Amino acid sequence: MKTKKPVIKKSDEIYKRAKQIIPAGSQTFSKGVTQFVEGFAPKYLKRGKGAYVWDVDDNKYLDYIMGCHPLILGYADPDVNKAVVDQLKLGSTFSLMNELEVDVTELLIDAVPCAEAARFGKNGADATTVGVRIARAVTGRDHIAYCGYHGWHDWYIANTDLNSGIPEFNQKLAHSFAYNDIESLEKIFREYPDQVAVVIMEPLTIIEPKDSFLENVKKITHDNGALLMFDEIMTGFRFAFGGAQELTGVVPDLTSVAKAISNGIPLSAIVGKKEYMFSLEKTFFSFTYGGDCVGLAAAKACIPKLKREKVPDHLWRVGGVLKDGFNKLAEQHGLSDYVSCLGYPCRTIISFDGRGVYKPLEMKSYFQQELIRRGILWTAYHALSYSHKMEDIEFTLSCYDDVLGLFSDIVDKNEKLHPLIEGVPVKPVFRKVADFMSYTIKEKN
Ligand SMILES: Cc1ncc(COP(=O)(O)O)c(C=O)c1O
Repeated sequence: MKTKKPVIKKSDEIYKRAKQIIPAGSQTFSKGVTQFVEGFAPKYLKRGKGAYVWDVDDNKYLDYIMGCHPLILGYADPDVNKAVVDQLKLGSTFSLMNELEVDVTELLIDAVPCAEAARFGKNGADATTVGVRIARAVTGRDHIAYCGYHGWHDWYIANTDLNSGIPEFNQKLAHSFAYNDIESLEKIFREYPDQVAVVIMEPLTIIEPKDSFLENVKKITHDNGALLMFDEIMTGFRFAFGGAQELTGVVPDLTSVAKAISNGIPLSAIVGKKEYMFSLEKTFFSFTYGGDCVGLAAAKACIPKLKREKVPDHLWRVGGVLKDGFNKLAEQHGLSDYVSCLGYPCRTIISFDGRGVYKPLEMKSYFQQELIRRGILWTAYHALSYSHKMEDIEFTLSCYDDVLGLFSDIVDKNEKLHPLIEGVPVKPVFRKVADFMSYTIKEKN
């Protein structure tokens, strides 16, 4: 296996400029230096094609981050790119409405079971936030029950560790419940009777719903007069063409979608039942780039391609080989207690357990470093795309085999991990946030 410590000279030069003038260095928390072994990993990418990216120093990687998931077809998909370029020649933002708004709404209604109407945003958080606003407007209630990650806005971030600058009243209005713990949702309804406007949740995450969890959530939500909103920004068009609601048969009142709908060109949408969606005739949701045609043109090319090429089936197929392959290798190396690949095949993540000896974040850093050395850009999860072909999965498994071999030697020799990390280990994502994140890192020491 070819290994190479990447030269990151240009990355470091750019970062030196950025550090002085860009607060936190990065526009997206999870793309910043804290999430990659600093001093070893590249910091800036300049180009992508299919499942591969090139950094500013011209190192090439097989990418498992895929822009934090939106690139479901792969970088620079020819059909999406053509649609975008053709649209740019016509214009991107106009002074009146554009037919694309209607075209893409029709595509979403065709795809997503609960969708009878749609409105567009740019970020996922636009869609989750307007969904919460719709529910508050419809029910006349202020409280929110949530489960999962839903974006950067006050109503959600208030209850995380990163809540400076957010008025405290928000903390009192949003209440988290745990996945597969129906009692934790019931408790919220008991504590805030007739006050909860919406239950917003990621319908499927890393673990499978048990004991008809989703069906029970829907029943309890409706029995208590609240709306059910699925945040399908991650699951939509990935777990199935119609998202988790198609796969599970549990259809909510509202749904947020983003990421996969436009293959990385910014676009999000709130979709749902007409009786709720049309409250937007009186509830304000309007901004200059709301009907921007670049994202819409991308979605108009992307959504039919996802259906035509049966992209979710592809993700399940290659993802299944990757998941089973990893877990088999872990077993062969005697490391099943330390590492495992969890989740639905179309969205998996490597979980680390230090067994009281190793810090899980150091394990993650070591694996990241050694995968980068072998040409894989990785931060524990596998954001698969249509461009990840079987040969890429086989290559990935051979890299995992190598790295697991190295790690098993470390375990056998009782070696310390920290001195083997050739830079600053990765830092935690935020704590006290989405439950699913705790599945990736089992803090034992
Ligand atoms: C499930 C879910 N909801 C909401 C968001 C927020 O989307 P955005 O970062 O585009 O605002 C994300 C982003 O990762 C997400 O995964």
